Amino acid sequence: MPARPAPGSLLGIEPLDIQDINGMLDAAYRMQKRRPRPLFKEKRVALLFYESSTRTRVSFEYAAKILGATTTLVSATASSIEKGESLIDTGYTLTALGAQAIIIRHPSSGAPHLLSRYVDVPVINAGDGLHEHPSQALLDAYTILRHKKSLKGLRVALIGDIFHSRVARSDVHLLSKAGALVTLCGPDALVPEVATTLAKGVAVTRDLKEAITGADVVIALRIQKERLAGLQLSLDDYISRYQLTAERVRWAKKDAIVMHPGPIIRGLELTADVADAERTVIVEQVKNGVAVRMAILARALGVKH
Ligand code: CP
Repeated sequence: MPARPAPGSLLGIEPLDIQDINGMLDAAYRMQKRRPRPLFKEKRVALLFYESSTRTRVSFEYAAKILGATTTLVSATASSIEKGESLIDTGYTLTALGAQAIIIRHPSSGAPHLLSRYVDVPVINAGDGLHEHPSQALLDAYTILRHKKSLKGLRVALIGDIFHSRVARSDVHLLSKAGALVTLCGPDALVPEVATTLAKGVAVTRDLKEAITGADVVIALRIQKERLAGLQLSLDDYISRYQLTAERVRWAKKDAIVMHPGPIIRGLELTADVADAERTVIVEQVKNGVAVRMAILARALGVKH
């Protein structure tokens, strides 16, 4: 059993230093400017998805294929996971079959970390429970940098369900390491006060106008209807206080951009006109996901271990 994750693993943003983050962002930029050669023709990449996904799964798959690697999708349904095979035994099976990197999405926080202690190939976290979604944070930072000179000193407002959002956690870690000022905004039930301790330069407010006024970047997060059941919060109340409308987005700087990791629910966390507005870069985020994930895979597969 390996004592530590294989080099090139990407388990979260929190343990990374800013040089490593910038290295991946620079590599993604080069790869987007100039399509790389299929460097990894002999390599096999397994996509191990215990949860549904469109963007992350497809873009990792395309990224691996552009780099010449062979990919295999293993999902929780239609595999031996359904018969009760454990995560670790599934990892042993995939590496025995020749997988040289495993990309994993799992509903339990920490599942990629556990797997990485048992397999000797890089493990890439494609979203684990309420914990982290590092490739999303990297593509979010990459997208912001296509519109802004630097992340340092930028005012970023994250609106909505911070508590249940692995994207929020990874975004906060990355933006804070890069020197951005992050304001988290939403009702008590979705944005606990303790969120200020997540990282340096993080503030919490319940007031949407305060969060958005003067922001360079506004990021809306998906409201996970299934998670609202036990909370003292109605959707109507959320919409009236926190939905991004065209009028509310105008509180931000003139050149502010609006982002969302997807999938979006039009009419809930944002209106359809905001989703389709010129300053909204949601589709661009999805496109950038391929280049960023190429950089993540190159880091994983290019390292000797
Ligand atoms: N943003 C994101 O993770 O989307 P998917 O669930 O479609 O991968």
